[in-house]
This record gives sequence, structure tokens and C-alpha cells, in this order.
Amino acid sequence: MKRMNIEYQDVESYESLEPVDFELVSKAYAIAEQAYAPYSEFRVGAALLLETGEIVLGNNQENIAYPSGLCAERVALFYAGANFSGIPIKTICVVAKGELLPFEKILSPCGGCRQVMVESEFRQNNPIKVILVSQNKRTLVFQSVNDLLPFSFGKD
Ligand code: THU
Repeated sequence: MKRMNIEYQDVESYESLEPVDFELVSKAYAIAEQAYAPYSEFRVGAALLLETGEIVLGNNQENIAYPSGLCAERVALFYAGANFSGIPIKTICVVAKGELLPFEKILSPCGGCRQVMVESEFRQNNPIKVILVSQNKRTLVFQSVNDLLPFSFGKD
């Protein structure tokens, strides 16, 4: 039998992250407020830090035909793909607010978003750091999307 280990940092509060990451978390929370989530009342924010220092933001966009909506992570990643093509992504931060998520729980990106994140990582051939934060400020930091989706579907 083989066993796989995943390394990640578990930080008590995002306030102790380095300033550039702290800013990313703050912007993710601010953009979560602008989510269009009338059906779930669950607001998700995603903030990408690009290699150039630019920050790309996204939030969930729902639709009355439920499957037509899109998660915050994919809104941000596809916007970056469309408007900043070829510029590597250093970090993605995802946060959420809403009754669906107990105060102390971390929002863990859905499988579809992980697959898109993995593709971004594959395209740029460089790991993307992932920062996940709960409403009580606890923060998990993964050094690569691959840690969140091992054995992913891909060319390898
Ligand atoms: N959602 C995201 O934006 N990201 C995720 O990783 C999980 C779920 C959104 C989709 C939907 O608008 C709402 O949260 C409830 O599922």
C-alpha cells in the first residue's frame, strides 16, 4: 500500500501573512461582497496575484438556470486567461461568506475549479500558491494546486 502526504501551512490568522498575501485576502473578501448570489446567498471571492504584481478578482455569478452560473475561482481564472494571457499566476486566494459556511470552516474549492486551477498551473509550468481562509481568519496555505488535486486528469 502507498500513502500520499500533503504539506500545507496552517496559520491562526491571515493577518500574520506577508503583506502581499494579506492584501490578496482583503481584496478577496471585498470582491466577495459584490458576488451575484441571489439563489445560494453564499458569496465567494477569488483574488489572483499575477507575476507582474497585478491582482485579478472574481466572485461567483449565479443564474436562475443554476448550472449556467460560475464559481468565483473560474470567473477570476478565465478573466486572467482572457486579459492577461501568458502572464503567470503566483497565488490564488479564495474566501467565502454565508450561512452555508460555518464561521470556523475553510471554503475548499470545488472539483471543477481545482481542475481549472491545475490547468493554469500546467500551462505556466510553475506552481500556484493557494490561500484558503475561514471567517474566523484561520488560513491554510498550499504551495501548489497539485496538492489539492493529486492524480488530476491531464497530459501526464
Ligand atoms: N462556489 C464558488 O464560487 N466556489 C467554490 O469553490 C464552491 C462554490 C459558489 C457557486 C455557487 O454560486 C455558490 O458558491 C453555492 O454553491
